Amino acid sequence: MPSAENSTEKTLAELGVRTPEAVSALFAGLRERANKEQRWIDQSDKFEQFRVKWVGRKSGILTQVTENWLKPSDPELKRIVGQVLNEFRTHLQRLVDQAQQDLDVRAGQAADARERIDLSLPGVIRPTGSHHLIRQVFQEIEDIFFSIGFSVVEGPEIETPYYNFEALNIPEFHPVRDDMDTFYLELPPSSDKKTAPTPLLLRTHTSPMQIRTMEKHKPPVRVIVPGKVYRRDNPDATHSFAFHQIEGLAVDTDITFCDFTGTIEYFVKQFFGPSVKTRFRPSYFPFTEPSVEFDVSCPFCGGTGAAAGGGTCSKCKGAAWIELFGAGMVDPAVYGFVNYDAKKVSGFAFGIGIDRLAMLKYGIDDIQVFFQNDVRFLRQFP
Ligand code: PHE
Repeated sequence: MPSAENSTEKTLAELGVRTPEAVSALFAGLRERANKEQRWIDQSDKFEQFRVKWVGRKSGILTQVTENWLKPSDPELKRIVGQVLNEFRTHLQRLVDQAQQDLDVRAGQAADARERIDLSLPGVIRPTGSHHLIRQVFQEIEDIFFSIGFSVVEGPEIETPYYNFEALNIPEFHPVRDDMDTFYLELPPSSDKKTAPTPLLLRTHTSPMQIRTMEKHKPPVRVIVPGKVYRRDNPDATHSFAFHQIEGLAVDTDITFCDFTGTIEYFVKQFFGPSVKTRFRPSYFPFTEPSVEFDVSCPFCGGTGAAAGGGTCSKCKGAAWIELFGAGMVDPAVYGFVNYDAKKVSGFAFGIGIDRLAMLKYGIDDIQVFFQNDVRFLRQFP
């Protein structure tokens, strides 16, 4: 029997193979070798060697068999050689496919092993943040007004003088502009002359959203507007150049002063507790008429003005009342700016300073702590 190693380099005649049985035996030997070598494949480079050696087009064993055994074989043997060669080819292809598949599975398993999560390892502790106290107070107030039919809208912090002043019945050179002096932006002039004259400014209050809301919606309107506002104030314990307000606006065909005070009273009791009392004093805002200032009976001394251990209450300084916020019935002049019929509609508006309210409710005596973001402070209000 010729050596199996180089048998494919010779012809069948040279190998002395003349019968169909001998042909079959020869192929069986090859098949055996291929099977054995395929079992050794454990890496992709070995796979490649195997593939090239057996089915490589140029000088693979399959090609050699075709060239050396089939083509020159005697006509009477050719048919049988062709047939066995076909089976052998199919067999080799199956070996190659199988090896490839095994390698893929192995690679998948290795990747899985690499990515496996070891549940016994200690975890990474991610500190959870919490809402800033101002955000919490916003939420508290929004919830209260939401429960009585108001919806929440927000507006731009960069405003035009038209929305911040003019449409709120504050013409140029009106003295109240002095109280609200603010930051003006230098921006390229806008082409839209009516709504965006330059310069633009950082809004001094959330009241511009009264106008923007009424421009968009016909009555009835019931909205609150939380947001940041800006004034050119020097920072101290009660002033900051940026602070927070919630605007409120309710306009309908039959809203009375009673609805107004009732709504405010409901809000104050929800926020400070059922035992506080409210009162209002006359005030002045160009966009409300009449205008009022709401006070709440001091929640700290129970409205007595006296401290528990004697002396005067430090929070209200003995006054028994604490000033809360400005409000009023919407001035009919404002309706003129938004095409509402001042004869048919009426309503009220209010502007609550959130920082002040939060300081009152939570006994904080310096507004600056809201902006310093010292975690030792923030952690007290998880
Ligand atoms: N916008 C006023 C301010 O910031 C407050 C206010 C709002 C007053 C609505 C009346 C009505 O001082």
